[in-house]
This record gives sequence, C-alpha cells and structure tokens, in this order.
Amino acid sequence: MRRHALASKRTDQANEGDSRVFERKYGFNSVGLMGISVAVLMMVPVVITISIFYRHPQLDQSWGFAEARVLEGEPLKDNCHVEDDPPISTNEHKDKLYDGLLAAGLDDQSCMSRYQSSLYRKSSSYKPSSHLLSRLRKYEALHKRCGPYTDSYNRTMEKLKAKQEIGPTDCNYLVWISFSGLGNRILTLTSAFLYALLTNRVLLVDRGRDMDDLFCEPFPKTSWLLPLDFPVNQFDKFDQKSPESYGNLLKNNLISSSTGSPSPFLYLHLVHDYDDNDKLFFCEQDQAVLQKSPWLMMKSDNYFVPSLFLIPSFSEELANLFPSKETVFHHLGRYLFHPSNAVWGLITRYHEAYLANADEKIGLQIRVFDTRPGPFKYVLDQILSCALKEKLLPEVDKQQPVVTLPGSRKLKAVLTVSLNSGYFEMIRDMYWEYPTATGEVIRVSQPSHEGYQQSANQIHNRKAWAEMYLLSLTDVLVTSSWSTFGYVAQGLGGMKPWILYKPENETAPDPPCRRVMSMEPCFHAPPYYDCKNKIGTDTGSIVPYVVHCEDISWGIKLVDRDEF
Ligand SMILES: *[C@@H]1O[C@H](CO)[C@@H](O)[C@H](O)[C@H]1NC(C)=O
Ligand SMILES: *[C@@H]1O[C@H](CO)[C@@H](O)[C@H](O)[C@H]1NC(C)=O
Repeated sequence: MRRHALASKRTDQANEGDSRVFERKYGFNSVGLMGISVAVLMMVPVVITISIFYRHPQLDQSWGFAEARVLEGEPLKDNCHVEDDPPISTNEHKDKLYDGLLAAGLDDQSCMSRYQSSLYRKSSSYKPSSHLLSRLRKYEALHKRCGPYTDSYNRTMEKLKAKQEIGPTDCNYLVWISFSGLGNRILTLTSAFLYALLTNRVLLVDRGRDMDDLFCEPFPKTSWLLPLDFPVNQFDKFDQKSPESYGNLLKNNLISSSTGSPSPFLYLHLVHDYDDNDKLFFCEQDQAVLQKSPWLMMKSDNYFVPSLFLIPSFSEELANLFPSKETVFHHLGRYLFHPSNAVWGLITRYHEAYLANADEKIGLQIRVFDTRPGPFKYVLDQILSCALKEKLLPEVDKQQPVVTLPGSRKLKAVLTVSLNSGYFEMIRDMYWEYPTATGEVIRVSQPSHEGYQQSANQIHNRKAWAEMYLLSLTDVLVTSSWSTFGYVAQGLGGMKPWILYKPENETAPDPPCRRVMSMEPCFHAPPYYDCKNKIGTDTGSIVPYVVHCEDISWGIKLVDRDEF
C-alpha cells in the first residue's frame, strides 16, 4: 500500500496553501498622474464550488487514505499518457516548446497543457542553455531504454525481488517517494530529477494518492510512474529510523566505499528531521559510495538543489547546465510539470473568466501562520501596505464619490489565493466603496477558499495545482514567507515576487515586504557541514551564488551573483 506513504508526518512547510499577489509595476506611473477620477469595478467570482480543504495536514492525511483506496487499481484517466506513434502537429514551433525545452513528439490531446501553456505566458527572458537541452534529450533516451518494463528494467527487477546483489548495470534508478504537500512535492521532484540527471539515473515516480491525476508524463514514449507491481512497497514505513537508510547503514558501519551496500537498494532520508549521518548525502565522498547502488529510494520535503551546487563533483556540470543559477527551478519546473487535462480545464476556464482581458494581472498569495482561523487585520494591513507602497495596487480616493476619466481605463485583475476568503473580500470591498486615485479599474477574484473543512473530494489537490499555476500566469506577484506554494508559482512564471515578511506578535512588519533576490525556491533545512574538514560550517557563505534566503534566515537559495 505504497499510496499511503504520505500519510506519515508532515512539516508545516509542507502545508501549502497560501497565495498571494503581485504584479509588475509598469504602467502605473502614467496612469497615476491622471489623478482625479474614479472608477470602481469589481467582480465577485463565484468559483466556490464544492468544499475542500486541502492543505490541512491532519485532514489531508485521512483524506489521503480514503482517496488511496478509491484510486487503487483504477486505470489512469485524463492523464497524459504517451502514445506509441504520436502525431506531431504541424504548427509545432519553437516557442510552443519553450525554446526547445520540451521534446517534440508527445501526444497533444492527452496532455493539452504541454502545447497550449506557452500561449498563456509571456515568453521567458531566461533561455535554457544548449547544454541543458542536449542533456534533457539524452536523459529522455536513457529513460526510454531503461524505463518500466523494458528489458533492462525487468532484469534488475528479478534480482530486486530475489534480494540478490544486482551488480553493476547500465541502468540505475532513483525512486522518488510521494511525500508531503503538493507544493513540496513539486520542489522535491525537481530536486530528485536534477540529481538523477547528474548521476545518470532513471527517475521513477511513486504516484502516491494523485501524482498521476495531476501531472502529464514528461518524457516521450515511456512512463515516469513507478509500476504498481514494484516489489519494494513499504514506502510509508521509511523514516529516519529505517535500517535501510544510508544514514543508519553508515552509523552502524554496514556500508563503506570498499564493502559496498548490504542491500540491493538504499533509502535516502532527506526529510527535515534528518540527522547528521543522513546529511552526508551532500558530501562528495558519500556520493561515490551511493553511485554503486543501482536502486536509490528517496523521501524528502525540501528543495535540496542549492546543496547539490556545493558538491565539487557536480559543480562543473551544474555550471554548464545552468549558466544563470537562478533558473534551475524555472527551466526544470517548466520541463517536468504539465497540468493534466482535468487541471488544465480548471486553469483555462478561470483564466478566461477572470484574468484574460486584463491589462495587468497581479497575484497575491496569502499564507497565514496563525492557529486561529482569521481573517486578521494585521495581515490585511501588511498586504495593503506592501501593495500600495510598491505601487502594485493604486490608492483609493476617499474624498470623491465618483471620478470620471476620459478615454479607456486600465483594468487590473487581482488574483488572490488564500485558504481564507476574508482578505479577498476586504480588498474587493475597498475598491468597490471608493474610486481609485488613478482611475484604474480593479477586479479582485479568488478561485477557492478551502480553509479547514475535511473533504474526500479528489478535486482538492487539482485546485491547489490550478491555483499555483494561475499565479504563475500573472505579471506581478506578492508571496508569503515560508510558502512552497509561492516558490512554485514564481519559478514557473519566471518572476521575482515581493515577499511578505513573516509577521511577529500579530503586527504587520515594517517594511512589510521586499523584492526577492532570485526566483529560486529556498532550501528550508540545509546541512551545515564542511565535508572536507569534517566540521560544522555555514553552507550559506561558502560560495557567492548560494546565500541565505529572504524569508528563512537559516535556509539557503541560489542567486546569480559572482561575488559576495
Ligand atoms: C517485462 O515484463 C513484463 C511483465 O512483467 C512483460 O509484460 C514485458 O513484456 C517485459 N518486457 C520485455 C522487454 O521483455
Ligand atoms: C507583543 O505585543 C504585546 C502587546 O503589544 C507586548 O506586551 C509584548 O511584549 C509583545 N511581545 C513581543 C515578543 O514583542
């Protein structure tokens, strides 16, 4: 019952749910000077539907169980499967495939987002390197040769079943175990894929309760899903104490570079509660040991990419793959994560109804860390203070009941994403009750407010994914500290958001927000260890391009910087 793997513990970073808004500032000034008039408009989207409450850890768990049972054994629907001989559409052009990031040759009907998403985005100012493109094509070939039910896969599987030593093979694997909330899963899967790319492993994805429902297959003519008959299926039991974990084998002197591994597979525990032995994963000498194991299984809830950049044997290849260091998640996220048709429907319908005709789209991702339900005035104050100060949203004119301006007015669509509908309502009301000082028309909408209600409804994670994706389609983004949901949106969108500082003591911080240094996600629980000198060290101050995060002082992230 591998599906239940995620029922184990969660971190609070793991709860996604939040969202925010942002936007880019262009255009503000000229409009701002016009002063006087007033225009108010608002829209109350009624996309509230079905109850849901994703993002509540406890509820999520029990829900996970329920859904797991339903899903078990069901054929994949809606999901993008790959056809043997895919039709290659004639108007496939470079833009559509994100400058060659995506391989041609996948079926467009089973995964419409793959071919349509570029129509919803401005073209990225970050181009993938030719080295990255060629490594992706090589990876795809490897995956096709070694993927599920290929000759190589079947042979290694026999031995894994018999618990025999597998020995050196030309196909080595990394199993990503589905664990934690959706935002975290997207970040860890990206980290796992990059690790597989660096170590020539084939990445196989434990589908957990809904990975196959949310995402298309990213690789042509094969599958990234771990077959359901895979013999090692106690994923839910893997934890910090597992005897098969690399850290515990080390601690018990059961593994070394000379003896190799006692088991045909190794478990890598990279969850936030990992210990010093587990963290040796990030040391070059330990990578040499791991390389000998044909099957690695990994469980994580963290974006551990920044620490891969600190492993000397990887750093040259990483520099070639990503000449711009802050584009790792941007490119790999766009490469890997294509919404399934069911999710794509949620995204495109909402986009058409509330965002498509706006002159500017502002995303507000609001995540509140307060145990009470809210909404809270200090949170609203902080959001407004950030948005107004940074001129992302216009001030209202409380002196004039009506303002008319000649000519057409600029329409700004504000997309709020939050577990609570209170913030959305208050911002909407503000722009209804008073005219904007700039004459701009402000449309405020929020797709869902799933709060804390329990629901066995599968649509819940679909909506969470749709909301992250919609935020990534905005022009300007405001995000909350600590939120993986925001990281995913900014990375996919190629945006540097304004990030709201975490409030202390129920007071809006001053300043309320800042622009992030890079669009990369933050690694919340990095190792603090100098592998060479075997002493503790601050891994956020070893190289200029791995620094401490804006929102979590002990976390680390990639930035484009050559000097300290
Ligand atoms: C691998 O094994 C599966 C059944 O376990 C079988 O259907 C498939 O044909 C095998 N693949 C090859 C290449 O023999
Ligand atoms: C929080 O605010 C309260 C009331 O304003 C004050 O008494 C308390 O000292 C504050 N605590 C901290 C840690 O700042």
